[in-house]
Amino acid sequence: MLEIRNLKKSFGDHEVLKGLSLNIPSGKITVIIGGSGTGKSVLLKHIIGLIEPDEGQILLDGESLYEMTSETLKKQRMRFGMLFQDAALFDSMTVYENIAFPLIEHTDWSEAEVTRVVKHKLEQIRLPGIEEKFPSELSGGMRKRVGLARATALEPEIVLYDEPTTGLDPVTSKAIDDLIVQTQNNLKNATSIIISHDIPSTLRIANQVAMLHDGRIVEVGSPKDILHSKNPIVREFLDPVIDQIGVA
Ligand SMILES: Nc1ncnc2c1ncn2[C@@H]1O[C@H](COP(=O)(O)OP(=O)(O)O)[C@@H](O)[C@H]1O
Ligand SMILES: [Mg+2]
Repeated sequence: MLEIRNLKKSFGDHEVLKGLSLNIPSGKITVIIGGSGTGKSVLLKHIIGLIEPDEGQILLDGESLYEMTSETLKKQRMRFGMLFQDAALFDSMTVYENIAFPLIEHTDWSEAEVTRVVKHKLEQIRLPGIEEKFPSELSGGMRKRVGLARATALEPEIVLYDEPTTGLDPVTSKAIDDLIVQTQNNLKNATSIIISHDIPSTLRIANQVAMLHDGRIVEVGSPKDILHSKNPIVREFLDPVIDQIGVA
């Protein structure tokens, strides 16, 4: 459904993406792994159209994102939801206003309808009743969950998560993982694209794992394929973690 073809992107003379290609199957969870600063967030921003590549294509149902009219692109963008790396909540807005924001922006729903959806979303992320709180009053894990509620408020078909569990304790990380899988199911088998440093979590929830290294995808496969990969770049990335947690 989503096809990334030979994507190239430089910032000044820093070449970040060097011809990156990847197919993202619909209805599945794809996890992208790779070291810090390798361009994972840059890749996600290309997918949602926040950044345009120097070269290459992203095809959505066979149609290039970069050749669409702005009208079509706007419509297509509503099919995407994104949880940013830092949750990116608006600090001056309440939880209610944060989650309601995309609904007010993109729909003509009544206030009662918006209120109902926000309430439902807060129940889904198991934080009912926190409508009037501000982001500064929430823990990191709670902010991520509210970010997740906002990213999925419009029931997107394709949900992107940028390091949803980084910096969270194991129990909260597991709760976020469960929410991602639950969201995937709630949204009638949405397509999920997750960037993660969290190997145990990746192996637990991914259908497909792709490793980004030096501007390209160097390996793609099932969690099992990746776990048993003989690619030295993959091994270098995984082995220290596997030694630590004892995944066999
Ligand atoms: N808007 C930008 N302008 C200049 N450089 C950028 C910009 N966005 C990202 N970069 C650079 O691109 C590289 C990859 O960044 P990023 O995708 O955030 O890495 P990560 O894999 O950790 O998510 C980094 O060196 C970063 O400094
Ligand atoms: Mg990043």
